[in-house]
Amino acid sequence: MAILNVRQLGDEILTKKCKPVRVINARIRQLVDDMYDTMYDACGVGLAAPQVGILKRIVVIDVTPDPPEGEEIPEDEVMRYTMINPEIIEQSGEQRGYEGCLSYVGMSGIVTRPEHVKVRFTDIDGDEYELEGEGLLARCICHELDHLDGHMYTERAEAGSVISNEELAKKQEEQQEQEES
Ligand code: NI
Repeated sequence: MAILNVRQLGDEILTKKCKPVRVINARIRQLVDDMYDTMYDACGVGLAAPQVGILKRIVVIDVTPDPPEGEEIPEDEVMRYTMINPEIIEQSGEQRGYEGCLSYVGMSGIVTRPEHVKVRFTDIDGDEYELEGEGLLARCICHELDHLDGHMYTERAEAGSVISNEELAKKQEEQQEQEES
């Protein structure tokens, strides 16, 4: 288990285009394991290789919902994906909401993304897959794939919408109070 250093906004590596993976070897498998360790350690739902300083087209995603207390999520409801050389081949609809990034810790901004995407990728065993995702999974796929082309969500966020998570919590509290009154 290894927790890697997550590069932060302003680091030039986050602006570079990543190269496709040609062979899935032991080094790639180790990198993927380390990416999961790093993502879970930071309580993230997705991580792209350039965020840990590797310019390869690899992302890991885990948007498995939290299980009810004391229970475990059944295997068929786990939403964990290792995507090598992923490509969005279809997208539709629209969702607008806050998103954050492990490369810009403690901040969130409003980004509009497709509600539904279809992505094609190679998994860690070298098998090719097509996956359809909606909601959070679709948002996460778009966000992580952007990293592979050197883009941060802050470039897509609505002007002035990027705020600290404390400010966001305050805002949501105020909104809730307004709704209740
Ligand atoms: Ni990110």
